[in-house]
Amino acid sequence: MTLASWKTVEAAHAHLAAQPLHVTARRTSVDAFVWKAPHLEADVGKQFIDDGVMSAMQAVATERNLPEKIRALFAGEVVNASENRPALHWALRGNGKGIPAADAMYREAEKAAAFALKAASGGLGFVVKTILHIGIGGSDLGPRLIWDALRNYASAGPDIRFVANVDPEDFAEQTAGLDARTTLVLVVSKSFKTPETASNAALAREWLVSKLGETEANNHLAAVSSAPDKARAWGAADDRIFPMDEAVGGRYSVWSSVGLSLQIALGADVWTRFLKGAAEMDVHFRDTPLVSNTPARLAMMDVFLHTAAGIPSRTVLAYAHRLRKLPDFLQQLEMESNGKSADDLPGGRLDQTAPIVWGSVGTLGQHSFHQLLHQGTRLSSIEFVAALSAGAGDKARGRALLANAFAQAEGLLGGRSAAAAEKELLGRGMDAAKAKAQVPHMHMPGDRPSTTLLLDDLSPESVGALVALYEHRTFAAGVLWGINPFDQWGVELGKVLAEQLDKAIAGDDPGQRDPSTLRLVSKARERF
Ligand code: F6P
Repeated sequence: MTLASWKTVEAAHAHLAAQPLHVTARRTSVDAFVWKAPHLEADVGKQFIDDGVMSAMQAVATERNLPEKIRALFAGEVVNASENRPALHWALRGNGKGIPAADAMYREAEKAAAFALKAASGGLGFVVKTILHIGIGGSDLGPRLIWDALRNYASAGPDIRFVANVDPEDFAEQTAGLDARTTLVLVVSKSFKTPETASNAALAREWLVSKLGETEANNHLAAVSSAPDKARAWGAADDRIFPMDEAVGGRYSVWSSVGLSLQIALGADVWTRFLKGAAEMDVHFRDTPLVSNTPARLAMMDVFLHTAAGIPSRTVLAYAHRLRKLPDFLQQLEMESNGKSADDLPGGRLDQTAPIVWGSVGTLGQHSFHQLLHQGTRLSSIEFVAALSAGAGDKARGRALLANAFAQAEGLLGGRSAAAAEKELLGRGMDAAKAKAQVPHMHMPGDRPSTTLLLDDLSPESVGALVALYEHRTFAAGVLWGINPFDQWGVELGKVLAEQLDKAIAGDDPGQRDPSTLRLVSKARERF
């Protein structure tokens, strides 16, 4: 990075790299490496950081004006420069009162809440037993995550089924056995022109018409969009179209009417508690000095790990079944926000920014890709996400879940030395020569960094706080890299090319293209 303060970061990196991580991790003060925030704590004692790194990163934060950028975010000023917009997702959680744009959003939120109540209590003229939520990307991943995380708080509300893929098999699968008479189709699309969503919206309408007839079909439609005309043209009535504010980006939008299906199915109390937890995290991020600001410190750590230390990926392991969609959600949040290389300093280019975020639900990964994490040649920063309420009341199983997470982290850091492996093999009665040959396969290098994010529980407040933590961490990391985390120009090219190739497969002149694409088009033409 072309920052004056970056030289100090590089020096701090060289100093840190001079000793093995398991030695660094014998901290004099463990508590200094447990970063607290509402409803959770981040234990970074096993991370590849030390005091020197963190103070160097504080200097980067100062040079990039992070405190000023945080102030601007919460003042509703333009922080999305390339689209000339503020970013107001945080305001949806309640802390934006007095900001005119936020006040307008609250008025709309009241209408959505009233609709949710009406839909849940049979006020639409039919009993809603299922909501068919159609959307993709930010209009899908947040609601999916939160539905899985909090659905056990829903008393007797409807079920939610999600359809995102343009492959009609997704729609067919989700509507199999569904009774149209008790289904509310909710299309969520900020633009209302995303091809996958448009295609599924059309399929849904056809499905309703085939089951209920033209007039009644429209009674089962609702939409969330910034393009009400398009939603109206699809068939939704005016009082069933809920706006999305342009200042709320898709991947930050679960708190808005994008979460309408959640509001209906979870009920107002759970929904309010979810927002409240997130609002607590907003206050922490807004008002806490950088030295003890947890999302900001995590962002500093991320930028250090993935840029100065060059660690290319982050593996998110959710040791809570209810958080199983967290890796998918974070992939969009972090990679669509910060997977960029244009520095906002004039002429600046960045060579290493957002990590490749991937992962799965623990403990499943342990029986699959953890082999690479423990003994492979590629380094990843591993993030264990667990809750102290693990096991949902089943103490023995909850204990097993936490023990597995802690054991993985411990093993990744400490590894197993060649001497320890040899001793173990000899102890099993293996002869010396065989043991020597076996040692390299048993040796675990260790020194693999990890973070443990520990939630107090999986309550709506804690889950809200967790998602808001990740949002703020992503924003702060963007600021540190000099990236605008709120635009996504990189996803546009593929959409344009897909439209051209659709026509080419249908028979249009494909034009000038690379030979491989031309061959694929002619191959597909044989079938379409
Ligand atoms: O193509 C990417 C994207 O624009 C995401 O940023 C967004 O979350 C998703 O598509 C869905 O967009 P929309 O809500 O407009 O359908």
